[in-house]
Amino acid sequence: MRWWRDAVFYQVYVRSFSDSDGDGVGDLEGIRSRLGYLELLGVDALWLTPFYRSPMTDHGYDVADPRDVDPVFGDLAAFDALVEDAHRHGIRVTVDLVPNHSSSEHEWFRAALESPAGSPERARYHFKPGRGPDGAEPPNNWRSVFGGPAWTRVPDGEWYLHLFAAEQPDLNWTNPEVWADLEKTLRFWCDRGVDGFRIDVAHGMSKPDGLPDHTEPDAALLAHSDDDPRFDHEGVHDVHRMIRAVLDHYPGRMAVGEVWVSDADRFARYVRPDELHLGFNFRLLQTAFDAAEVREAIEHSMEAVAGVGAHPTWTLSNHDVSRPVSRYGGGAPGLARARAMALVVLALPGVVYLYNGEELGLPDAELPEWALQDPVWERSGRTERGRDACRVPVPWEGDGPGFGFTTGEPWLPMPDDWSALTVATQIEDTTSTLSFFRRALELRAEHAVSAGSGVEWYGAPPGCLAFRRSGSTLVCALNTSDAPVPLPPGDVVLTSGPLEDDGRLPPNTAAWLT
Ligand code: NOJ
Repeated sequence: MRWWRDAVFYQVYVRSFSDSDGDGVGDLEGIRSRLGYLELLGVDALWLTPFYRSPMTDHGYDVADPRDVDPVFGDLAAFDALVEDAHRHGIRVTVDLVPNHSSSEHEWFRAALESPAGSPERARYHFKPGRGPDGAEPPNNWRSVFGGPAWTRVPDGEWYLHLFAAEQPDLNWTNPEVWADLEKTLRFWCDRGVDGFRIDVAHGMSKPDGLPDHTEPDAALLAHSDDDPRFDHEGVHDVHRMIRAVLDHYPGRMAVGEVWVSDADRFARYVRPDELHLGFNFRLLQTAFDAAEVREAIEHSMEAVAGVGAHPTWTLSNHDVSRPVSRYGGGAPGLARARAMALVVLALPGVVYLYNGEELGLPDAELPEWALQDPVWERSGRTERGRDACRVPVPWEGDGPGFGFTTGEPWLPMPDDWSALTVATQIEDTTSTLSFFRRALELRAEHAVSAGSGVEWYGAPPGCLAFRRSGSTLVCALNTSDAPVPLPPGDVVLTSGPLEDDGRLPPNTAAWLT
């Protein structure tokens, strides 16, 4: 039962979606209260970002107990109620798993700190002696993805590895206890009825023997290339095979990997038949609003998975990257391009992930420095603002300051002018971005039924593209040039913005035709 083959997933950044108890932080009960909205929007499944026990250094990606709910988000009963209600609404629920690292508050790491060098407690992490005469230099030259060294020294002189914040020590995936614990976590949530998992840093976990130095240690923060020694090692595929073997015991469950690997062949290894079902292909998200580049990214992504019989997974937005409206230039053109690109991905074969607020056309928020919370801000020595701008809570209604997200003070300030972007403002307006997404999802669902897994490209003027998903009658045309162009033949069923008076497709616009 591969329900996810054509599914539209909706990423809920739990902290920022809906707050039921007025503490300014979104929670599970808040999500439950919005299931009617999500059903109306037409999504098939949710991806909930981590809601486990956590000191929240990286807002939940620092997990202190992967089998319990943090009190700020609710409790296990609230989780069970959410899953049950979501299923009643016809919406599946998938959750995040963070196998690369734990929180420094995890009982294992506390025990490691209290135990001597060479102890079994330390062997669950990467503790090493330092370099130099008194071991005062870190064991290698790796940098943290969030800035600063990837090693922190403990009082007895050993160092431990953390590819992210110091509060996120990397687990040692050569240790059988680490494997057994992930298996237990997978079963725990499967038994509670979840429909699948998103695997954080799915190209991490396994580390190269001897932890060799990085030849380009000063690579940009929050980014890395394919030859970076910190990621994409052979051993990681054994972990994915284990995950798959567990899920295969639970019919209908799936896993999608966060795989920041650009090479098509190396990427494909993550979605082989005995590994993950899906892998986010981030190529399109990194592509400019340019028809030739968009086409190349689509073809690359489809080729990457076709050879191993997997499905492409499209996404333009998540909690780690600038929102599409801002990325494509901001203001009215940015919004127009984001809407146009949404029609492109929703017409493609495969799975689509939307990120909460994308359906409202939210831009990145301009935040004052005092409000910044992403660990990247401090770890970069306040040179990189980090990812808070795309994590500002969803505006539901009213004129602020909580916009129906919270009755309290939102954990990140919400811009005053978002009253024009609230769900309440947009839901009745047939020209709104929300109404546009609702219609697009409805049409996609109708057309996906008979559609195949290939794409046929049509000839298109310079700066434009047009394609049809095999087996579907739906044609998608995109204009990234700066002049209007004639539409391909057919009946227009949806456009991302108004057409010219003479029926041509304006710049920054896409159309669906049958
Ligand atoms: C990827 C997650 O999407 C990001 O938010 C997090 O900071 C890192 N992994 C570390 O867990």
